[in-house]
Amino acid sequence: MAEVVVVEDQDAAGELAADSIVALIRSVPDAVLGLATGSTPLALYRALATKIASTGLDVSRVRGFALDEYVGLPAGHPESYRSVITREVVEPLGLDPERIHVPNGSLEGIEHAGADYEKAIAAAGGVDVQILGIGTDGHLGFNEPGSSFASLTRVKTLTEQTRNDNARFFDSADDVPVHCITQGLGTILRARHLILLAFGEGKAEAVAGAVEGPVSTSNPGSAIQLHPHTTVLVDAAAASGL
Ligand code: GLP
Repeated sequence: MAEVVVVEDQDAAGELAADSIVALIRSVPDAVLGLATGSTPLALYRALATKIASTGLDVSRVRGFALDEYVGLPAGHPESYRSVITREVVEPLGLDPERIHVPNGSLEGIEHAGADYEKAIAAAGGVDVQILGIGTDGHLGFNEPGSSFASLTRVKTLTEQTRNDNARFFDSADDVPVHCITQGLGTILRARHLILLAFGEGKAEAVAGAVEGPVSTSNPGSAIQLHPHTTVLVDAAAASGL
């Protein structure tokens, strides 16, 4: 059963989540963070950067694994999740880039990129806290409806809905890649703590389905109900379907 906390706004959610991550890093200096992209976790990353700077917290040993990546974008493309994680997380938090991993979305070696990523997560001892947003269709990472709860990191095809949702980051919907590589729902469920963030009315249905809906692969978000330690931080609008 997820613990649901309704907060005033994104900044309040960011503060709460950042406090729990700071506490984790204090007790486990080489903590492994599961990093999400999208607009949802940005307030959290901002809050975390401020707390690290103001307390002088040593983050030199912190490790991180991103949830997902587009397949086939040119190296250095500003909207590749490698670039986003560098820009929004690694640089502002002052993390060691060598310790931050993003699935390999280049076509070269794509056939073993999923298995390689699973091995790297296992070698790091697993993810301590996984930050999650949720898609309007309930997707976690890029696990679209129909994804198995046992799935591991693999290449997937994005749905039209997700490509349209993400078109705002590109010049047009046609420029959004068709394929991605994403941690599986099984990978996500192995993390020791899940923090799911969602804001705004557009996420209300996905949040209700994830927290209270039937546990079903047609709603990937509902996988969180199988996890023993999930915290859901939402504003009133995103909680309105609960
Ligand atoms: C993206 C990402 C997800 C993210 C979701 C929501 O496509 N792959 O990890 O949680 O969609 O995005 P946003 O936070 O911008 O609403």
